[in-house]
Amino acid sequence: MSNILATLKNTNSPQFKKLAAKLAEKRADIGPFGTPQAGRTNREATPKDPGQEAGQIPAKPVPDPALAQTPGTAPEVKTAAATPEKIVMLLNQRLAHELAAIAMYLTYSAKIVGPYRPALAEFLAEEIPDETKHAQFLADKIVAMGGVPETNPAPVAPADSNQEILKAALEAEAEAVGGYTALLQALEGFHDQALRIDIENILTDEQGHYEETLKIVAGFGQDRAAYA
Ligand SMILES: [Fe+2]
Ligand SMILES: [Fe+2]
Repeated sequence: MSNILATLKNTNSPQFKKLAAKLAEKRADIGPFGTPQAGRTNREATPKDPGQEAGQIPAKPVPDPALAQTPGTAPEVKTAAATPEKIVMLLNQRLAHELAAIAMYLTYSAKIVGPYRPALAEFLAEEIPDETKHAQFLADKIVAMGGVPETNPAPVAPADSNQEILKAALEAEAEAVGGYTALLQALEGFHDQALRIDIENILTDEQGHYEETLKIVAGFGQDRAAYA
């Protein structure tokens, strides 16, 4: 024992240097909390960051912009906002469909026959104020933007039986949902944020019309004769 202690006291002895080298190797394999570091074998050395001295906090890695982009994808290109003339043209397209919707609900509600006439005719007629409100808004906005409001309605699908009428109304509402959704996309980046909110509110109305009509049309499969 005394021999070993004497050997260790002599830091220049070959035994001491051998022991010190072994201890240094052991420390490199043990993590900060005394456990082996994950993913490392006993013989792997820890690569040091260039310029990192013992006890220094490693510098935060700076992401390489070239690596941030997914390989094979083009950088995002922002498209230019639509011109006011283009927006007026799109608003006029919607106005033509709103004028058609007013004519459609007015005539369709008059043509409903059979025992379910009171409920169905009222359901269709109740859409007229909403579509009129949409048309009024569009016309006002078009004039405010320096345009001329459309006066010709889009075509109204011919329909005679109750079933044909409700199916055509459902298709018209689906067209309205698609049309206002496309208009909102065209308004991306356009300076008039209030217009965007107004169009979103109209879209909400149209989605409601579509879903309510869909519930009635879905009932045809259960009691078809009653609606014919
Ligand atoms: Fe509408
Ligand atoms: Fe509608």
